Amino acid sequence: MAYTPQLRELMKKVEETRPSRVGNPFPRMTPEERQEVLKKFHPDYNEEGFREIRVGVDKGKRMPTEMADVIEAYSRLKGVALDLNTFDYDVDVLIIGGGGAGASAALEAQAAGAEVLLVTKLRFGDANTMMAQGGIQAADKPNDSPGIHYLDVVGGGRFENIPELARALVMDAPLVIAWLEKLGTMFDKKEDGTMITIHGGGTSRKRMHAARDYTGAEIMRTLRDEAYNRGIKVIEFCPAVELLLDKQGRAAGAVLYNLETEQYYIARAKTVIIATGGSGRLHYRGFPTSNHYGATADGLVMGYRAGAKTIYADSIQYHPTGGAYPPQLLGLLVTEKTRGLGATPLNVKGEQFVYHLETRDVESSAIIRECKERKLGVPLPTGIDAVWLDSPLIEQIHGEGTIERQLPAMLRQFARFGVDIRKEPMLIYPTLHYQNGGLLINENGQSTIENLYVAGETAGGIHGTNRLMGNSLLDILVFGRRAGRHAAAKSKEMAAPEGLNLDHLEQYHRELDQAGIGAERVSPMLLPRYTHR
Ligand code: FUM
Repeated sequence: MAYTPQLRELMKKVEETRPSRVGNPFPRMTPEERQEVLKKFHPDYNEEGFREIRVGVDKGKRMPTEMADVIEAYSRLKGVALDLNTFDYDVDVLIIGGGGAGASAALEAQAAGAEVLLVTKLRFGDANTMMAQGGIQAADKPNDSPGIHYLDVVGGGRFENIPELARALVMDAPLVIAWLEKLGTMFDKKEDGTMITIHGGGTSRKRMHAARDYTGAEIMRTLRDEAYNRGIKVIEFCPAVELLLDKQGRAAGAVLYNLETEQYYIARAKTVIIATGGSGRLHYRGFPTSNHYGATADGLVMGYRAGAKTIYADSIQYHPTGGAYPPQLLGLLVTEKTRGLGATPLNVKGEQFVYHLETRDVESSAIIRECKERKLGVPLPTGIDAVWLDSPLIEQIHGEGTIERQLPAMLRQFARFGVDIRKEPMLIYPTLHYQNGGLLINENGQSTIENLYVAGETAGGIHGTNRLMGNSLLDILVFGRRAGRHAAAKSKEMAAPEGLNLDHLEQYHRELDQAGIGAERVSPMLLPRYTHR
């Protein structure tokens, strides 16, 4: 559905102001202004969307209501008879999740000599990694350093990051880029072979490495090919639905569930790595999401039930530029690379109202303010308000052909619905993008449960309460690799676990009963329930 005549009329205001915006950046907010807009407009500051969790190891902590609902739920295994002494799989390292974190963990664990099994809910590679567009950060240019990257990470994270995790992130970043290159990832380069790098929101140096605007797909392609080439055992459409613990309460495997045959399998493992991704499909506060279909908080639920602690579970990221129109694009990601290349957000009068590369939390809050408080959003035929993102400005700044070269996925995505983003600005509004918090880990990816590791979006603490663009593709690889190596080494030191049990579920169910929570909610969710909405 191309833009309507009314939208075309409004678009003229964007065209009128465009020349005045070339080479004339909008001022950045002061720290006080940032704090003010966050407090008033960021959904995380609105208490209505949160409640205290009533059971488990973090009882009393604040969580988004939708997250609390899936955590305060009964196991799918309640009433299911299982023989926990007979193992369908028996390995050193069990990896749950087939995105970038799981794949990189598998590669490193296997390289360290461990016998590895990777199980995944959908197909190997069907994950948020595949959908990541804009890039991956690494300080590998002469004007940059991991120290400067660190300052950006903790500044963006509102100084809430766990320092050791942020340090690991930035220190490993150049190694990760070199590793990916060696495996065959094709990053954008200049003719002389140096990497092309650009800014993201909140970066003080140009350190975003990209493969056009399908960076995640290119990285996932490389990792998946490598895993297959190295003969790593992968089982698709077979999620874990509960962790198994041993006699000492250490992680010792998982119950797997074949989505096709609906049979359960027992996987024993000396160490377990959860890499199941985030929770965007819980649609916090009714937001649409840029997330993959499988992002239903499964790892968070299983880990929490087994007793793993969380951190910043109440911190959610709304990406400033979700698609708002045409309606088929609602909530889908419009990569931050678009702003990195110079596109500016504009209100219905064609006026810029926020610097285009504020951190995501601030940028999103400013967009919400423009629409909700100032009433200067662009009214859409679908009944919602949005703002313009002036993509044609990119061609004015960098020259004709830039969008085709640098943003081919965006160009194609909008063209399918009759919008040419080289000539017409995009319509955007914040979309639910990322869970900043998750299960607490240390710098080796170890959770608070022995022999249980967590990598990728299920883990928390790395990014504080606001992640910067390009640090998620980075963290899945940094902590996937670290967890894989550490879990493999740990598995070498120990005998096969004994006394596998699900006692923690009984205890959890008792707590639910005591809190008066009925048995109608069951989790992990596995697949989002749109038919119920
Ligand atoms: O905007 C983007 O391309 C998203 C990147 C990220 O979340 O890191």
